[in-house]
Parts: sequence; structure tokens; C-alpha cells
Amino acid sequence: MKLKSVLFSLLAASLVSGAAFAQAPIVIKFSHVVSNDTPKGKAAERFKELAEKATKGRVKVEIYANSTLYKDKEELEALQLGAVQMLAPSLAKFGPLGVKEFEVFDLPYIFPSKDVLYAVTEGAIGKDLMKKLEPKGIIGLGFWDNGFKVMSANKPMHLPADMKGQKLRIQSSKVLDAQMRALGANPQVLAFSEVYQALQTGVVDGTENPPSNLYTQKMHEVQKHVTVTNHGYLGYAVIVNKKFWDGLPADIRAQLDEAMKSATKYANAIAQQENDNALEAVKKSGKTTVYVLTDKEKAEWRKALLPVQKEMEGRIGKDLIANVNKEGVKLGFK
Ligand code: LMR
Repeated sequence: MKLKSVLFSLLAASLVSGAAFAQAPIVIKFSHVVSNDTPKGKAAERFKELAEKATKGRVKVEIYANSTLYKDKEELEALQLGAVQMLAPSLAKFGPLGVKEFEVFDLPYIFPSKDVLYAVTEGAIGKDLMKKLEPKGIIGLGFWDNGFKVMSANKPMHLPADMKGQKLRIQSSKVLDAQMRALGANPQVLAFSEVYQALQTGVVDGTENPPSNLYTQKMHEVQKHVTVTNHGYLGYAVIVNKKFWDGLPADIRAQLDEAMKSATKYANAIAQQENDNALEAVKKSGKTTVYVLTDKEKAEWRKALLPVQKEMEGRIGKDLIANVNKEGVKLGFK
């Protein structure tokens, strides 16, 4: 009798835990380093909503914004180890993974317009770049836009010569290093989460980022000057751990793919407006002056920075740079 009841309760317990197990959702930990109130932050939230709805709760997306889980370099390691499943690092952060070609996006003036950017990210070049991630155990699901970068510092910046000797925070991209050196500045690699404090304490004098990042991290509160240089681009690749992705049930993977397609459209649709709004908010704050270059000054910045495209051919590949530039020519840019 006693044995029977023990067996019975064991059976009941295993049925309960079996049912609980069957219902346990697949968790996608999505880590990123920016505020929720940015193009990337908002697109991540949109993906979560769409993915959870499409899979009827079989998938749960947990978003960890603002480097709450991992900083720049750590998050890529965590993805490869499977500690997180999804990231959207900026394209300037793939070099340390051994995929230097992504730094093509960092080249000064490589995208004369957003249309040229989309021709690259949504065309053959974008596909080829994503394929390079697979041997690293990573799958690329989409490119998310952010915007063109402004420069910030504590002194007015009208001409490239104004950057001389300035200590400027950059992301871990050799192209950005070369870009700052071409201006006579002293580049320093720092994780995004460390930038505000580094600016505040004078560890660095200035930095570059699209206005959405500058504003949401309150960098304008610790920088006296911002110049709208639009000298370079910053965007993202949404990536997943390949083992995790390949191991998903096929129907779930298809639903997530669809959710990602919609989230990508959304990201790209809001990016420009988010950055325009952020720049307006920076101006309104009155905490920093925002300077817009004259055409003559713009020409000086181009003259100083364009040689970086040639200088980086050895690292990124002459053909890749030429092919990206060709997309511009196809769309009517010289
Ligand atoms: C930066 O580190 O400056 C940016 O890449 C942060 C981001 O993800 O937009």
C-alpha cells in the first residue's frame, strides 16, 4: 500500500513537471548597449512584441538594454558561448571577431545617402557580409539603421584642424582609428557604457555618434560643442547564436524570421526621424552649441578624411570598397 502511494505520487509529480516542461517557453536573451529610447532599442522592443505574438508565447524575448547584462566586447563573447542568444552590435564592432570587412561601413563618406546604404545592406554585398559570420558560430538576421555621425568636444569644431590633438573616444574599429588619426586626433577605444563618464572626467575630450546615442546617453550635458559633420555612418547587424537558431523547431524559426523582417522595416523607417528629433532636443537643451558646417567647411572635412578609404584597402579589401562605391554611382552619385 505504502509503495503504491509513493509510486503514485512520483508518477503524478513527473506528469506535472512534464507538463510544465512542455509549456516552458524558449527564451531569447537579447542584450544591447543603448537606451530603449533609440532606433535600436525601439526595434528590439518591436521584435519582442512581434515574436511573442507570432509564436503565441512559445518564445519569450528578454531584452537587456543599456549594457545591463554585458558591455561591447563581452556581449559578443557571451553570444558565441550561448549565454545570450541575440545581439545587435554596431557594424564597427565586428573586427575583433575576425570579420574585418564589416568595417567598410565605418569608412568616411562611403554612403552618400541612405538609399545607397540600403542598396548595400539589402543587396548582394549585405548577404555576403552576413555569410562571413557563420564560421564564427553566428547567423546574421538583418541590418538595422541608425544614422550619420556628429562630432562632439569641448571646443568649437569647424575645420579638421580643430580636431588636432583631441583625445577622442572611438569604437573598436581600425577604420575609426585611422579616421581620427587622419584628423590629427588621438583615438581611444572605450566601451559605450564608459563614454559618458570618460567625457565627464576628461579621460577623453570628445567623441562621435549619431544624435540619438549622444542625446539618450546625455553626452551633450558633458560636451560644450557638437558639429553636424555627417562624416560617417553607424548601423547594426542583428545576430544570433547559430547553434541556438539551427536548433529551433522549424515553425518557430519561420515565425521569428517574419518577426525580424517586420522589426527591421520598422527600425529603418524610424531611424532618421529619431535622430532628427534627438538633434532638436540637444539644441533645445541649451547645454551645448550645435554647429552645422558650411559647404566650404564640408569640403575641407572630405579632403582630410577621404584618403582613409584608400588607406584601409589592405584591411577591408579593395574590391569590397569599390563595390560599395559602385552602388553610389548606380544611384547617381560620383
Ligand atoms: C557606440 O559604441 O558608440 C555605439 O556602437 C553604440 C550603439 O550600439 O549604438
